Amino acid sequence: MLELVMRLTPEEQAMLAGDLGPGVKRAMEIVVALGKIYGARELVPIASAQVAGVSYKNLGDAGLEFLRQWAREGARVRVPTMLNPAGMDLARWRELGVPEGFARRQMEVIRAFEAMGAVPTCTCTPYLVGNAPGLGEHIAWSESSAVSFANSVLGARTNREGGPGALAAAIVGRTAKYGLHLDENRVASYVVEVRCPLRNEADFGALGYMVGRRVKNAVPYFRGVEGEQTGLKALGAAMAASGAVALYHVEGVTPEAEADMVSPNAETIVIESLSEGYAALNSSVEKIDLVSIGCPHASLAEIEEVARWLEGKRVKAALWVTTARRTRELAEERGFVQAIEAAGGRVLADTCLVVAPVEALGFRSLATNSAKMALYAPSHCGLAVRFGSLEQCLEAAVRGVVR
Ligand code: F3S
Repeated sequence: MLELVMRLTPEEQAMLAGDLGPGVKRAMEIVVALGKIYGARELVPIASAQVAGVSYKNLGDAGLEFLRQWAREGARVRVPTMLNPAGMDLARWRELGVPEGFARRQMEVIRAFEAMGAVPTCTCTPYLVGNAPGLGEHIAWSESSAVSFANSVLGARTNREGGPGALAAAIVGRTAKYGLHLDENRVASYVVEVRCPLRNEADFGALGYMVGRRVKNAVPYFRGVEGEQTGLKALGAAMAASGAVALYHVEGVTPEAEADMVSPNAETIVIESLSEGYAALNSSVEKIDLVSIGCPHASLAEIEEVARWLEGKRVKAALWVTTARRTRELAEERGFVQAIEAAGGRVLADTCLVVAPVEALGFRSLATNSAKMALYAPSHCGLAVRFGSLEQCLEAAVRGVVR
């Protein structure tokens, strides 16, 4: 078999040869190796990177040492680089009961990233805090829901990069041009006709769960969906979690949803009801220890909705609203954080339940309005889950039970 030749510019060749130091050489080796595996013919400059694999829970000591070593080798990012959620709120970990040893190592991880020039904006919704890529812009992002939103809703171009791959791309300012960077791979191979109403973010999540399971890794083209930001965020996150879907189109809504973006051989799926999704994502647990809102990280509008709903109420279960630090600041300026915390909830930045050491915090059951969280929490956090709308979850937080 002929080995595909990847064309590298003189600058890229110099990076690969080590002329810019061992940290850059290592990064270029990773980018080129990935490109060879996936048949890329060249690299493409990127506008930004978003790096997953930030929680010490996932990295462990080996991952931390890998990052430190890379920083010691002189690796520095060349494009704006943000991080995925860490294992704790970097400012409020003590009050959550995060073990001291975990917190210390988590901060060392953050420092290693900072030494390479990454901004410690730890969020899966960088597009909500001033880092939205433009239509057609190439980027190297790695968190699956962020990848989905950037590709689908914003029309940017990224594969789902692994954590080291995204960091390597940031260090060389380029990624290998294959997969969703190419026009031909952005064409839908499924048409999804949605014939039931989508009333809230949980409905979008249930739909995403069902479609992701059916289409697996492919690009679906939705008809009959009227989407806005919160719903699309939930839809993409769920499809990414259940079927590794990194790009979808919604007719009349997303920027690339034109008739010629559907393959002539596309298979049609008709969705008449969401009950299959709700059934798959719900256990029968009734007592709720913890309620999680903000997967993907909550927008300012979602935080406002929680604050308004909780007015005059008090929660019995723990309530975590997870968001980006900048969004939390904006919510604090408007009094939403104070309102939620006065009711007994918490608005946490920099983290999310899936990457936090929740096993050490004593929770056994969870209510969430996120299909992605409902799918992950049993296996990643050992929690029994109830999945429903924001209102149902907040009811559960106030009552401490779901009936
Ligand atoms: Fe974000 Fe964590 Fe959900 S990274 S998408 S809040 S599982």
